[in-house]
Amino acid sequence: MQPQKTPLPGIKHVVAVASGKGGVGKSTVAANLALALHMHGQRVGLMDADIYGPSVPTMFGLGVVDQTRTPLPLEKYGLKLMSMGFVVDANQPVIWRGPKVAQAVGALLFQPPWGELDFLVIDLPPGTGDAQLTLSQSAPLTGAVVVTQPAEVSLIDARKGVRMFEEVKVPILGIIENMSYLTMPDGSKLHPLGKGGGAKLATEIGVPFLGEIPIDPAVSQCGDGGEPIVRKMPDHPVSKAYLQLGQTVLNEMLKRPSGGALPEVEL
Ligand SMILES: Nc1ncnc2c1ncn2[C@@H]1O[C@H](COP(=O)(O)OP(=O)(O)O)[C@@H](O)[C@H]1O
Ligand SMILES: [Mg+2]
Repeated sequence: MQPQKTPLPGIKHVVAVASGKGGVGKSTVAANLALALHMHGQRVGLMDADIYGPSVPTMFGLGVVDQTRTPLPLEKYGLKLMSMGFVVDANQPVIWRGPKVAQAVGALLFQPPWGELDFLVIDLPPGTGDAQLTLSQSAPLTGAVVVTQPAEVSLIDARKGVRMFEEVKVPILGIIENMSYLTMPDGSKLHPLGKGGGAKLATEIGVPFLGEIPIDPAVSQCGDGGEPIVRKMPDHPVSKAYLQLGQTVLNEMLKRPSGGALPEVEL
């Protein structure tokens, strides 16, 4: 039997961004997807569910806040943001066991007054452990985007992520392949991490392939600098890929019952 879902009143669509393992660029995809949806005219929140390694504070240039003065969620670049990093100093390691982590994730998701949102994007912690499972079961997820890299080793982990969502009956909106290629000065593409893995996985499990994000130093520079690339350099080729991803996610939602009222936005 599926456990009871806790409702999130006022939020139309809850989209989880997940990956089988860390370091594939999941948080970067989540932040840029949330901003891309906002740039397409949506009201968007971003919840950083990574308790041990929150990255929303860095990517949005924010730190721990005095909660008696600053109401949570914080607002930046038009998004509503929630992260463990606003509550606990990112340099202080959080040493908690599973149940407490699940509790903290629940508090970050269900306690803040999110208000009316078209989308809440959840940056899930890497892996398929307790925290991921609890959240996938208790949150009213509309769907999940799985981030992978082109190499076969990443695909093994991504498949585990896909299986977890299948188990808890959350639809996979699609697979996105990050760090797909490097564009060389002569315009040719170099594939240092392998080629075509994401598309292959999408075909294998019968879900849409949402696209490729190239490797580009500007992506990490913008992320580390507190302003994700899609906002800082909207005309950059990588930003166009993120905007396209946002459009695809919007279109997927239009096909679903609660998404009927959302306008179709042209790029
Ligand atoms: N397409 C990309 N090109 C270059 N660097 C990237 C790209 N995507 C992510 N990164 C960088 O890789 C590192 C890991 O990304 P992150 O989003 O934190 O991964 P995860 O959340 O999966 O652990 C970060 O420093 C980030 O800036
Ligand atoms: Mg992360």
